[in-house]
Amino acid sequence: MAMSQTEPAVAETQAIPESAVSTRNITKFYGETEALRDLSLEFPRGQLTSLLGPSGCGKTTLLKIIAGLLEPTSGEVEVNGKTVTGPGPDRAFVFQDFALLPWASVLRNVAFGLEMRGAGKSEREAKAEHYIKQVGLAGFENAYPHELSGGMRQRVGLARALAVDSQVLLMDEPFSAVDEQTRRKFQEDLLALVLNENKTFIFVTHSIEEAVYVSDQIAILLPRPSRVHEIIRPSINRESGAANIRRDPEYLDIVDEIWASLRSYVE
Ligand SMILES: Nc1ncnc2c1ncn2[C@@H]1O[C@H](COP(=O)(O)OP(=O)(O)OP(=O)(O)O)[C@@H](O)[C@H]1O
Ligand SMILES: [Mg+2]
Repeated sequence: MAMSQTEPAVAETQAIPESAVSTRNITKFYGETEALRDLSLEFPRGQLTSLLGPSGCGKTTLLKIIAGLLEPTSGEVEVNGKTVTGPGPDRAFVFQDFALLPWASVLRNVAFGLEMRGAGKSEREAKAEHYIKQVGLAGFENAYPHELSGGMRQRVGLARALAVDSQVLLMDEPFSAVDEQTRRKFQEDLLALVLNENKTFIFVTHSIEEAVYVSDQIAILLPRPSRVHEIIRPSINRESGAANIRRDPEYLDIVDEIWASLRSYVE
């Protein structure tokens, strides 16, 4: 599916998959504070959408509403055509603080979501082992969270979210607590997951470069009360490898374009 850089029009005419998640006219007040205003967004199935916007604009609020952990003041969320009324197995949240069980091994932590759903021991261990390998933690099945680095704990959280086989993965700045080199590796791993797993990712980040690197679609949000300012769909050939992606003229152009659009909100 490689696209020539001289034919950007081809990329623009590529069909966008149907939405796995839609937010319809979401408004959210916390008391007097209006966090989101009439926010409507479509999240195409099997793709990664990044949410980029100034601090406090309501990104976490939107993820929690999609997860069903928080009710909107008005508006609604649809997942696979059904209105969200609470949390469900179709959506998994990768928390920034990992939320691991400190007394349980990596294997048990990854299998935990499946245990909650009543899956048998052999099934959940087989699945957990598969995803532990996928996130690069093979060999650490029996380690405990305190024996892992922050980056490794984050991988356990990601493996757990993948293991429950939710169609929609909600990720709130999952890489913000790790060093730059680990972060680059995570970005590569995430992109591989996006390309290989047919899941819908909704990904919050503060890093413009990260968003352009991993995303099919980037929604730029305005300061609170947040609305959608712009939607960008990069047509970079993401199968070309990390170094080529980061040198792709379109990658560089989009990074500049987004910064131009966001810089006025940064004091
Ligand atoms: N529980 C709450 N009670 C009152 N106000 C809240 C609550 N949670 C969030 N807010 C306010 O709503 C707005 C949006 O918060 P939110 O955490 O969604 O922003 P964000 O875009 O995720 O910010 P950041 O980029 O800093 O993580 C902020 O002004 C915040 O102060
Ligand atoms: Mg946040």
